Amino acid sequence: MYIQELTLQNYRNYEQLQLSFEDKVNVIIGENAQGKTNLMEAIYVLAMAKSHRTSNDRELINWDSEYGKIKGKLQKQHSSLALELIISKKGKKAKLNHLEQSRLSQYIGEMNVVMFAPEDLNLVKGSPQVRRRFIDMELGQIAPVYLYELSQYQKVLTQRNHLLKSMHEETPKNEAMLDIFTIQLIEHGVNILKKRFEFLHLLQEWAAPIHRGISRGLEELKIVYKPSIDVSESTDLSKMKEVYYENFQSIKKREMFRGTTLIGPHRDDLHFFVNDKNVQVFGSQGQQRTTALSLKLAEIELIHSEVKEYPILLLDDVLSELDDYRQSHLLNTIQGKVQTFVTTTSVEGIEHETLKKAKTIRVTNGTVNS
Ligand SMILES: Nc1ncnc2c1ncn2[C@@H]1O[C@H](COP(=O)(O)OP(=O)(O)OP(=O)(O)O)[C@@H](O)[C@H]1O
Ligand SMILES: [Mg+2]
Repeated sequence: MYIQELTLQNYRNYEQLQLSFEDKVNVIIGENAQGKTNLMEAIYVLAMAKSHRTSNDRELINWDSEYGKIKGKLQKQHSSLALELIISKKGKKAKLNHLEQSRLSQYIGEMNVVMFAPEDLNLVKGSPQVRRRFIDMELGQIAPVYLYELSQYQKVLTQRNHLLKSMHEETPKNEAMLDIFTIQLIEHGVNILKKRFEFLHLLQEWAAPIHRGISRGLEELKIVYKPSIDVSESTDLSKMKEVYYENFQSIKKREMFRGTTLIGPHRDDLHFFVNDKNVQVFGSQGQQRTTALSLKLAEIELIHSEVKEYPILLLDDVLSELDDYRQSHLLNTIQGKVQTFVTTTSVEGIEHETLKKAKTIRVTNGTVNS
């Protein structure tokens, strides 16, 4: 799939912008703070209804405006699609072919994107939260039902935490109510867990050979999901529920004391191993970077195998971060099959043939000359 046209209205530092793109590579050139990342972000937000760099949607609206709008025309193999996202201070509205969608989970997934930005190094180095967010965003765009489960889980989790907090102070304790929330939490929790196991299994299958390629055969990448309870990919759903329930029983007192839910998918993590060593702990900067890159390239292939279309690739500020070998590896991999956006501060950064042939878009202070 590729995005043909993009229109922005009061999005970050763009008051009005209309652009058309090449279906192969588009290079966005501009000095610092001119709006390159904002443009990449707009494409990402159009697809995901969420930014990759902030969870506060208000930041996306131009400072002097009440609302912001992103519109795009997407070309798929057998159809085209008009997407529209309106962000106001009250919330978001999403439209597909001019029809407003009642749930964002119905909207997300129609347009697929993979973003690779310097922050993605945090995937390996950062907190578990970064890795959970990665799973949620990526799985969400190929499995809308996952997003639904996640929002249901979040709702129960908030209620349960609220109750636990109040139980910390009150006696007698409403344990019957706690039990109801626990059971609801487990119901959604196991569905999330199952999906995450499946997703990471597939991701691992794609990522390992890619990582081997980038490391010239020297490194073997393994991705391991670390749940907060003792279950594995092969544990069946009813057994998972049982294990959750037993665990919740045994930590009940501690949860009441702490006033929060201590186990569940919101506490899980993901580990990466290179040649059986944990990259987060022992990996060099280069190995961590290669791991992040392998994951992103694996995502492209995974999305392709699931939705039968290649996603749109957004490379913000990363080409200059990669050495020549990895840069060529990346560009050769995507060449011709993936619509790609690349940002750079100067044309000097563009040496590879793929980039020389690309469409260039020059950004200056929220305006564009292509
Ligand atoms: N909501 C907003 N309204 C108006 N302007 C904004 C808003 N949010 C950010 N900006 C401005 O947008 C400008 C461009 O930011 P952006 O991150 O896109 O720059 P960039 O071209 O990617 O720069 P760099 O090369 O440093 O990465 C910044 O100067 C920032 O102050
Ligand atoms: Mg930037």
